[in-house]
Amino acid sequence: MVPEGDSRPIRLAVLGSTGSIGSQTLEVAADQPDRISVVLLSARQRLEPLASAITTFRPETAVLTDPTDDDIPALVAGIPLLCGAQAQLDAISSTHPDVVVNGVTGAQGLLASLRTLEEGCTLALANKESMVMAGELMRSTAQKTGARIIPVDSEHSAIDQCLRGGNHGEVARIILTASGGPFRDSSAEEIASATPQQALENPNWEMGPKITVDSSTLMNKALEVIEAQALFDLPADRIEVVIHPESIVHSMVEFVDGSTLAQLGCPDMKVPIQYAISQPQRWPTRFKPLDLASLGSLNFRAPDLNRFPALGLAFRVLDEGGTLGAVLNAANEVAVAAFLAGKISLPRIATLVERAMDHHDNTPATRLEAILEADRAARDRVQEWIF
Ligand SMILES: NC(=O)c1ccc[n+]([C@@H]2O[C@H](COP(=O)([O-])OP(=O)(O)OC[C@H]3O[C@@H](n4cnc5c(N)ncnc54)[C@H](OP(=O)(O)O)[C@@H]3O)[C@@H](O)[C@H]2O)c1
Repeated sequence: MVPEGDSRPIRLAVLGSTGSIGSQTLEVAADQPDRISVVLLSARQRLEPLASAITTFRPETAVLTDPTDDDIPALVAGIPLLCGAQAQLDAISSTHPDVVVNGVTGAQGLLASLRTLEEGCTLALANKESMVMAGELMRSTAQKTGARIIPVDSEHSAIDQCLRGGNHGEVARIILTASGGPFRDSSAEEIASATPQQALENPNWEMGPKITVDSSTLMNKALEVIEAQALFDLPADRIEVVIHPESIVHSMVEFVDGSTLAQLGCPDMKVPIQYAISQPQRWPTRFKPLDLASLGSLNFRAPDLNRFPALGLAFRVLDEGGTLGAVLNAANEVAVAAFLAGKISLPRIATLVERAMDHHDNTPATRLEAILEADRAARDRVQEWIF
């Protein structure tokens, strides 16, 4: 964290810088050149967009974690380009950024989240999978080093902002909103025959393919319920989900005195990304103002757990705890990849995840080894069931 009153630019790392969150984070950095200095950029294997960002932002170092090409240059525009997953972790330590935006997708992001917290850096967390797999370990690591975890997910950012209006003991419940995805009004039969292309069409948000499929099954909201529990330390019966097709109310906090605070805005991830970097300050920026009069109405309804059973699985994870979150996440990642490859139907994702949870011998999630073992075993099982 940059000490209060310190006017030097925030040293920012952007992990997964070529993705949807990563590239929007770089747009924020480009808009705030006096406030943000990019010191580290990473991607998995796409050299071209990474090289272009290196040339623009001139970080101290850059990393490709999993290059497919043997011919990767050691320098781009005179800046070292390192290779491998370990190089990404080492670069977090050596650059020691003030804030690390983790925009890596999936379980691959966990070790980078943990390294960020071990280094005592502020973690601006888009990679919700880290919290789903290892919420307890992430929190205890942050407590040890004094690091902070600031959510980038628009829903959790909204709750974080609303919580400025009261203290933890005054919270009655938090209410996460969900767009409902492209199938929110579809019948069970239509969902059963949904194609990857249809699932990749989110009505309100442009995101990477994995989270877009998760939004279409409401598994994304399941991950967010588990993430919310880990971030805000509230029992399951004080976390609710409501379908809100317009995605204008990003989430709400109801306090014990009957007051409910909501955070509203046009759907634009750059707003919660910038807030995760700037908070507790707010920086002026160009944004599309909210025009409630032309929107006319905002709609809310309860989620349908029969058509979207994935959401119910989150509450089972909250009930049973331990490494079950890692199992839900791993099984879902394998099943989503199989759906996108045309191997399974959309409803089979939740069925496979539930089956993996049923087969899991639960253990406490306090050690990284136990979490990674649960992740690996669930992946192996689901792969076997699919093929
Ligand atoms: N997109 C959104 O609006 C949104 C909103 C809220 C939360 N999130 C969360 O943010 C995370 C990223 O989502 P996204 O939509 O931005 O995904 P995305 O567009 O698929 O981008 C993923 C990024 O991660 C990189 N990557 C993958 N594995 C990596 C690894 N092992 N090490 C370093 N980089 C790696 C990819 O590099 P290559 O390009 O080289 O493959 C790419 O830059 C997810 O956890 C998602 O749930 C996203």
